[in-house]
Amino acid sequence: AEEGVAIVGSCNVDLFYYVDSFPKSGETMFAKTYEEHFGGKGANQALQTIKLSSSPEKVIFVGCVGDDKNGRSIINNFKEQGVNNPEKHIHVVDATSGIASITVDSQGCNQIILVPGANFKVLPEHVDASFEDIKKCKVLVCQNEIPFATTQHALKRAHESGLITIYNPAPFVKVENLSEVLKYVSVFVPNEVEAAELVNKDEIKNTEDAKQIAQELHSLGAKTVIITLGGNGVMALHNEEIVHVPVEKVEKVVDTTGAGDSFVGSLSYFLSCGFEMIQAIKLSNFSASVSVQGEGTHRSYPDRACLEKHKKL
Ligand code: RIB
Ligand code: NA
Repeated sequence: AEEGVAIVGSCNVDLFYYVDSFPKSGETMFAKTYEEHFGGKGANQALQTIKLSSSPEKVIFVGCVGDDKNGRSIINNFKEQGVNNPEKHIHVVDATSGIASITVDSQGCNQIILVPGANFKVLPEHVDASFEDIKKCKVLVCQNEIPFATTQHALKRAHESGLITIYNPAPFVKVENLSEVLKYVSVFVPNEVEAAELVNKDEIKNTEDAKQIAQELHSLGAKTVIITLGGNGVMALHNEEIVHVPVEKVEKVVDTTGAGDSFVGSLSYFLSCGFEMIQAIKLSNFSASVSVQGEGTHRSYPDRACLEKHKKL
């Protein structure tokens, strides 16, 4: 049975600039197209969960927006998607709503500049204010686009209440004492760049490196470690076993923006339904591979019908 998923995280308005290639320093160029959409890693993950879920009211999104037009449309969008009481869980604070400026080239690669704004005002108090509802969920998810102290507080409280805690450390932020937070984390999901940076390594060059770094992150306290490797799938350390879970090749990569969020949102959903870990990873790999084949973030995420059509569910 499907249970609740709580996401404590960021929400933005994304400004997408589609170009042939990235501008050089000092260059002015014309965009091929321009679009505005809802985004933010927390919101994207919530929207992926909702797309798969048959009871979106079991999805709780805790965050902050500004007292502005973007803030109002972010809350309205969550309402339209049927998420649990956005007016209660999303706070209007004195800052501009988060904005991301996203440039995507013809290879589907992106560059993102973030204006965190209201997202940096998500406080431990906001987590506490929603905790009666969060406590009823099975899974809690955090990323790195809100203050780290809030993330840590949310993971700790959820862990103590017996929830499955998922921590996606994106984007990379330097943490003084990683084990202080990883001890509250059931499933740690960095991408290959974040994983290497977190253990002060240059980069992951091959699956051996990925295995070693997964071990290291596990020894710092994360129960399960899943390093996402883009087109190479994921390296997972689960129940003391290391498994490489590859992903099916896609014909053409259109836009990888938010593919990691599709993975994390899907994983949260499938774990909330009680799927076994490796099965949940396989399904989440599939979601992410669908997402890179379409423009944007949640616009390109698969819904339930898509997974059924491809005989995944
Ligand atoms: O992961 C993609 C997201 O990163 C975008 O939606 C943007 O808002 C940034 O937070
Ligand atoms: Na996409």
